[in-house]
Amino acid sequence: MTNTNAERLQAIAARVAACTACRLHEGTRNAVPGAGSPTAEIVIIGEAPGEQEDIQGVPFVGRSGKYLDYLLNLIGMSRNHVFIANVAKHRPPANRDPLPDEIAACRPYLDEQLAVLNPLLIVTLGRFSMARYFPDAKISKIHGQPRFDGGMAYYPLYHPAAALRNPDLRWDMEEDIKRVPGLLDEIRKRRAAMNGEPVPEPTPEPTPPPADEGDGDDQPPKQLSLFD
Ligand code: URA
Repeated sequence: MTNTNAERLQAIAARVAACTACRLHEGTRNAVPGAGSPTAEIVIIGEAPGEQEDIQGVPFVGRSGKYLDYLLNLIGMSRNHVFIANVAKHRPPANRDPLPDEIAACRPYLDEQLAVLNPLLIVTLGRFSMARYFPDAKISKIHGQPRFDGGMAYYPLYHPAAALRNPDLRWDMEEDIKRVPGLLDEIRKRRAAMNGEPVPEPTPEPTPPPADEGDGDDQPPKQLSLFD
């Protein structure tokens, strides 16, 4: 019998949990393989787990995650609609940047997750995940500009932590995320044309669901000056 996406993702997560391919697993509490819908059309790729993610084993549950929830809410989505992963799956010591060999050691896991999910859209958050698809690009130049590739697209965005650190980036960040529903429509159209299928109906304007499950506050977390 063929395994379901959920089973295949769980099997990858189990291997990530036992991974010792680089130094990052040393001293961590949990691996953070990725989480979300096993049939997600959107995969969001961040950098590496921070302290809260290390404690909970779930990506983007700290302050950056709260802002990511807010951004998803702007387009009528929650984290249950997407799959969220990172280029490094264990927390780097003191939240330092993941090193090239650490990202390389994790790469097969992310590649496998993407092969299972076969998403319409890959959203990269920050420069480390952007570099997978846009090597040598500058995020300040290319954020919000999708690259279509057959029946899918790559979409580079700033990292939520950058927007928390520098509120001037929030407008860009929020305008960029608001283009996601239109992008999905465009990708669906292209997929349908490739497969000789009828053009799908466009997605209706999003009705944001009730504010995040956290503290009931649907405002961006302006009070936060630090990030994960
Ligand atoms: N920042 C990331 O890039 N990933 C997380 O999971 C949390 C914070």
